[in-house]
Amino acid sequence: KQALNIVKMKKMKKEGIPLSMLTAYDYPSAKIAEEAGIDMILVGDSLGNVVLGYDSTIPVTLDDIVYHSRAVARGAEHTFIVADMPFMTYHSSVSESLQGIRRLMQEGHVHAVKLEGGAEISDVVKATVRAGVPVLGHIGLTPQAVNQIGGYRIQGKDEADARRLMEDAKALEQAGAFGIVLELVTEEVATAISKELSIPTIGIGAGRGCDGQVLVYHDLIQYASPYYSKRFVKTYADVGGLIRSSIEQYVSDVKGRAFPAEEHVFSTDDRVVEALYG
Ligand code: KIV
Ligand code: NA
Repeated sequence: KQALNIVKMKKMKKEGIPLSMLTAYDYPSAKIAEEAGIDMILVGDSLGNVVLGYDSTIPVTLDDIVYHSRAVARGAEHTFIVADMPFMTYHSSVSESLQGIRRLMQEGHVHAVKLEGGAEISDVVKATVRAGVPVLGHIGLTPQAVNQIGGYRIQGKDEADARRLMEDAKALEQAGAFGIVLELVTEEVATAISKELSIPTIGIGAGRGCDGQVLVYHDLIQYASPYYSKRFVKTYADVGGLIRSSIEQYVSDVKGRAFPAEEHVFSTDDRVVEALYG
C-alpha cells in the first residue's frame, strides 16, 4: 500500500536518487505532506519541542508517540512512516524495548522505528530487525542525550569524533538498520559515512553528501517553532505569521461586529419571526 519500502530506498541510494523525509505529528500535517509527495514521514520526538511545548525531547513518552502516530497513519495512508522510540524506552532490556516497538507498530500503525545511538544499541537493533521491524539509526547529535553531550553541538569536528561516528554507522549497518539519520554532523564526515555505507543516510544539518534529507515540519513552514532560524533549516513559508494575522482579523471582526455577516446566518420562516416578536 505504501509507495516506498526499505528495499526501494536502498535501490534509490544506488541510483543516486535523494530521499525526502519530513516530520509530522497529526492528521492534517501528515495528509498535506503526503499530498506534497514526501517520500517518508517521521513521527519524531521533536513532537516534544514543536507540538507539546517542552524544551527538550526527554519528557516525550511512548504513549505520546503512539497517540500521534495513529493520527499520522490516518492522514498518510500511502506513505512510509517511521516513529521515534522515546527517551529511555530502549535501554533497560531488549525484551522491554521490543514491547514498546510492538506498540508503535500495532497501535501506532507505523512501518519502522528510529532509535538514537550507535554500536552500544546494536543488540536492540538486531532483535528489532529479527522481529521484522525496520530500524532507522540516528547518530551525531542525539537530542535524547543532550545532557550527556552538554548541548546541541556539531558532531565530528575532531578526528576521534569522526572515527567514532564512522564506527557507529558501520555497526548500525551491520546490525541491520535500513538507514541512518545523521544530525548536526560536519559535511565532510557525513559525506564519508554516506560513501562507506550501502544503506541510505538521511541528514539534518549534515550537509550535501547525505543520501536524503529530513526537516522538522514546524521549522520548514515557520509554525511557532523556536528553531526555524537555525543555519541548517530552510524555511519555505511563514505559516505561523499567516495564522496569527488570520486570527487577528477574526478578533477584530468580532469586536467590530463585521462577523458574522448576512451570508453566515440562518433565517427562520417569516411567520415564526412574527410569532416570536408579535
Ligand atoms: O525528532 C525528530 O524530528 C528527529 C529528526 C530531527 C531527525 O529525530
Ligand atoms: Na527525534
